[in-house]
Amino acid sequence: MSMEVRKRKDSQLQTKTNKADSKDRSSDEIKPKFGPLPQFRTQRVWARGVMVLGVFAVVYFSSKSNKEIALAKYKDVHEYLAQEVSCSASYKDEVIKFPGCLPKRCGRLVSDKIISASEATALLDMAKRLLAMGKPLGGAAILDLHSGAISYEQGFVNMYKMNEAASVFRDSDFELYRTVQTKIQLAVANYFQVERDILYLTHPTFFSRLTSSPPLTIHDEYWHTHVDKETYEAFHFTSLLYLSDYGRDFQGGRFVFVDADKVNRTVEPRTGRVSMFTSGSENTHFVERVSAGTRYAITVSFTCDQKHAISHPVIHDKRNT
Ligand SMILES: *[C@@H]1O[C@H](CO)[C@@H](O)[C@H](O)[C@H]1NC(C)=O
Repeated sequence: MSMEVRKRKDSQLQTKTNKADSKDRSSDEIKPKFGPLPQFRTQRVWARGVMVLGVFAVVYFSSKSNKEIALAKYKDVHEYLAQEVSCSASYKDEVIKFPGCLPKRCGRLVSDKIISASEATALLDMAKRLLAMGKPLGGAAILDLHSGAISYEQGFVNMYKMNEAASVFRDSDFELYRTVQTKIQLAVANYFQVERDILYLTHPTFFSRLTSSPPLTIHDEYWHTHVDKETYEAFHFTSLLYLSDYGRDFQGGRFVFVDADKVNRTVEPRTGRVSMFTSGSENTHFVERVSAGTRYAITVSFTCDQKHAISHPVIHDKRNT
């Protein structure tokens, strides 16, 4: 290899030094070495040209039909950011079975004004304190105050049965949790125009903490695109309350609606921000993998199916069971 290089250098040197000898000679020297190269070269140039054009075409068309739009940016404070999307047929067919449950519209609403800053701060404090009882192996930890489930090693344990539970919980935790859920429930009823009395909290409703730790169990893979109603049949409305800030407390971790018009619409988490949406395929989505930091949120789910209703958690009941 190095021999070849040297050879070429030598011949270059030669052509330089023998410049006076005429151009014909130097082309004579090259010809036997590379044979039919000149022809080959033109073909290559053409091939390259076509390839470059192709790449431009792909980039152009995919940028036209597949883009990303920020629906709610971290830095913007929204009182009421609504986006309607037609209800999917399967969603409509299903909700219509529950009197009063058919929403006036399908789609999403993002609001930074439903939950106060002090409520969000207190909930974050609660999330940190309670999730510290868990022992997740990967990057996703959950805590469900209704069932008591908390991520622990390969799966979940009942945190109400843990020895430290009595000292970790505060009665005010349950009051706060209930207040916030009720506010979200009212906002869902109001935006989608369904009777609040037929909106029941359902399972799973939980706190989540996401980090960039690699996934170790299937519960850790939260970033796959999905439809809530397909994962949890009882869901009719899904809401999220964010307890930390995108770009400040963590990187990645945006919520992304994957829409039928080939546009991905992102919601950047912001402390106290609530996002709510109908749970059918009109709101197909995923959460980006968190690449740094820690992301806290609460998922609050609603159903119109009373069979799947869950009640507000009360610590005294749980302690005695
Ligand atoms: C939109 O999300 C889908 C699903 O994750 C992904 O395959 C696609 O690349 C995303 N598009 C853009 C423009 O980010």
